[in-house]
Amino acid sequence: MPLSHPVIAIYPGSFDPLTRGHEDIARRTLRIADRLIIGVAHHATQTKRGLFSVEERVAVIREVFRDEERVEAVAFQGLLVDFAKELEARFIIRGLRAVSDFEYEFQMAQMNRELWDEVETLFLAPEVDYSFLSSSLVREVFSLGGDVSRFVSPQVLSRLQAMADG
Ligand code: PNS
Repeated sequence: MPLSHPVIAIYPGSFDPLTRGHEDIARRTLRIADRLIIGVAHHATQTKRGLFSVEERVAVIREVFRDEERVEAVAFQGLLVDFAKELEARFIIRGLRAVSDFEYEFQMAQMNRELWDEVETLFLAPEVDYSFLSSSLVREVFSLGGDVSRFVSPQVLSRLQAMADG
């Protein structure tokens, strides 16, 4: 009987910063994949104002998933499908929070399939408590002095606080 290949999935995004919603999607992915690579994009499809550098985002994701040996965090440049090919990952994971996410996500999934038809995009629904959560809202609430401790891990929070202090 042939040995089956490990299932490798990529969870790409800006992760600026990683939220509890992202963490939830990553942990859910481990139910269906053997290995998960969280890919922090140097170039997001939608222009967004950055808070942390890509290197800082990768570093904090590694801290958050320190105890989970099946999860890695890596920065990538260029096309997501090229990164996926390089890693022999055939599954792209995206979280789908609400209908409003759908159009953008559907376009990206179709374009990625046009670019490499062996890749499948899988959409996972987050825990309902995180269905409203986004990095951009965390950035906004934090920058206006609001409490974001419920929305991010302590490792992310301490980096946010260090940035505000320094
Ligand atoms: O968290 P985001 O910002 O919604 O993630 C978007 C991301 C990074 C997944 C998307 O912008 C992307 O895949 N960028 C890499 C460049 C690329 O492949 N663009 C074409 C996508 S169809």
